[in-house]
Amino acid sequence: MPPALLTAMKLPRLPFPSLTFSLFLTTALAALAPAVRAQDTIKVGEVASLTGKEATFGQSSHKGTLLAIEELNAAGGVLGKKFELLTEDNQSKAGESATAARKLLARDKVVALLGEVASSRSLEMAPLAQAQKIPMVSPASTNPKVTETGNYVFRVCFIDPFQGTVMAKFAVQRGWKKVAILSSSSSAYSVGLAKYFKETHLAGGGTLSAEQKYAEGDKDFKAQLTAIKAAGADAIFVPGYYTECALIAKQARELGMNQPLFGGDGWESESLLTIGGAAVEGVFFSTHYAPDNATSAVATFVKKFKARWKDETPDAMAALGYDSAMVLADAMKRAGTTDAAKLRNALAATKAFAGVTGQATMDADRNAIKAAAIITVKNGKFTFMQEVAP
Ligand code: PHE
Repeated sequence: MPPALLTAMKLPRLPFPSLTFSLFLTTALAALAPAVRAQDTIKVGEVASLTGKEATFGQSSHKGTLLAIEELNAAGGVLGKKFELLTEDNQSKAGESATAARKLLARDKVVALLGEVASSRSLEMAPLAQAQKIPMVSPASTNPKVTETGNYVFRVCFIDPFQGTVMAKFAVQRGWKKVAILSSSSSAYSVGLAKYFKETHLAGGGTLSAEQKYAEGDKDFKAQLTAIKAAGADAIFVPGYYTECALIAKQARELGMNQPLFGGDGWESESLLTIGGAAVEGVFFSTHYAPDNATSAVATFVKKFKARWKDETPDAMAALGYDSAMVLADAMKRAGTTDAAKLRNALAATKAFAGVTGQATMDADRNAIKAAAIITVKNGKFTFMQEVAP
């Protein structure tokens, strides 16, 4: 409280003795202090897997998000205030994203939550954001259930019914009729993507020779792969995350299986290449953007990201992390406030926002409608093949 305001309170007229008064004053000031401080910056919470099994997801999205926040702050912030990004690491562990989101909501009183990349982890956060009526924007979770949680939950990426269709059509394009699926039963993302791929694949006249399952963290896939080998397949669809997918590719090759392997955005990590080595040569996957797809927005972003993060090439999570913060800031500007209900409405009204990963328009279910990119591994490098419009 500024001293001038204290003087203006006409202290002598207060009816209680001085001791009580000074107590009152101390209490009043203490109560006021956090409120005053909270107004200095706009606190945004971020939940990311900075360590653990999917560490590259969290590190990438965090680097993109932070780059956006730094750019916004360098330009003066929004509504006359700077952003403060409060990041919590969930260590890629089940249960930790809920704990992290609770901390950010209750202790830090963030005005919005950014995160998570993985759908199962976003599904831990979403009910908490919804219950508190604090907007949440997932950069990269593609399972439909995430935003179905409620009207305060958004994402800046496409959803898996689209991604599954993209890869089913890709299979047709490559002439793969008989496909085997190897998916993770403990990841919402994998369960969903397997289902959506299967629906389109079967509807298009394709067949499934085998459907095998694994669980997150598994390291030995030989039993499932042996069953797939016996059933035969033109190609194997593996809708999982990079650690398991790289091991699956290695073990398939060890078993003498030479079929093409293909999957979704969960494959995208430099670690896929380091773990998988020669076994991932020629795999295909769909994702949200490709750094070598030479649009000017992508080129500008790649340049800025490399300058900020030791020449690292940004992957899809980095680009989506960046877009998630920019979409949130844009909504704040349009809302003219960080008031949660108004911010929610502004997010819902996001239209043709020019992001790095394409134009973002929120549909009625708070999902962004976007194109997908198909990437292959060629000479040990991720190589852009084609873009697929929604
Ligand atoms: N789409 C994945 C999920 O929902 C996460 C992911 C996004 C992985 C982008 C890689 C790239 O779980």
